[in-house]
Amino acid sequence: MNSPDLQSHLVARRLRKSYGSLKALDDVSFHVGKGEAVGIVGPNGAGKTTLFGALAGSFPVSGGQITFAGDDITHDPAETRCAMGIARTYQVPRPFLGMTVFENVMVAARAGGGLSAAPATDHAAKILEQTGLFALANTPAAALGLLDRKRLEVARALATSPDIILLDEIGGGLTEAELVQLIALIQSLKDNGMTIVWIEHILHALIKVIDRLVCMAEGRVLAAGDPNAVMQNADVRRAYLGSTPE
Ligand SMILES: Nc1ncnc2c1ncn2[C@@H]1O[C@H](COP(=O)(O)OP(=O)(O)OP(=O)(O)O)[C@@H](O)[C@H]1O
Ligand SMILES: [Mg+2]
Repeated sequence: MNSPDLQSHLVARRLRKSYGSLKALDDVSFHVGKGEAVGIVGPNGAGKTTLFGALAGSFPVSGGQITFAGDDITHDPAETRCAMGIARTYQVPRPFLGMTVFENVMVAARAGGGLSAAPATDHAAKILEQTGLFALANTPAAALGLLDRKRLEVARALATSPDIILLDEIGGGLTEAELVQLIALIQSLKDNGMTIVWIEHILHALIKVIDRLVCMAEGRVLAAGDPNAVMQNADVRRAYLGSTPE
């Protein structure tokens, strides 16, 4: 892929992650610039979520280096990376189901964002406004519909006041109308200067927001760059379009 420039915000160089003999990440280099939105596509098992886990510090990598804003964070724990401004959502959302929407965002603002009660309350209210969840503040997370659960997943990540947000397949399962609303939310984050990395199988949603596209398969980066050029790439078409019709 293109060599990272000096503006690059989050940079991974030659990452490796093995599970036994399986190379989930096999020499993956990746970068995202400040304020940039990068999409990641690839067939099931390509290593996309594993890349997020490596970037967020969910587990130690088997090799390679990660820098954020110029600092080497390769061996920093997840909490440190979160405090530095890296937030992620999960492919399988992980809200506290017994808590309300507001309480869920408060937990993230206090534990992840390090805010004390009063500023966390103000911050949580702002995030609920921003994500369209304000009217549902007192609704238990367990009672939310799918779109609002996705919004809550984004809200919990935003509550930690990140510089960069890693979105893992938040579009899945939504109707077209719901998807339009989710895209509008992500676009608004981008418009406010948030750096975004978005894994998504729903290409037409991704293409609306991203500046650059990365395609992974079998733990490797097949192609990266202009979204249309990546989708025209012969290896990408074979590995991705061939196996996952849009
Ligand atoms: N904790 C784990 N232990 C063993 N193997 C794992 C583990 N996590 C992921 N893998 C394997 O690593 C490979 C990459 O998985 P990953 O979840 O990163 O793929 P993905 O691109 O996110 O796929 P999907 O589109 O299905 O979400 C897969 O073969 C997966 O089975
Ligand atoms: Mg995944």
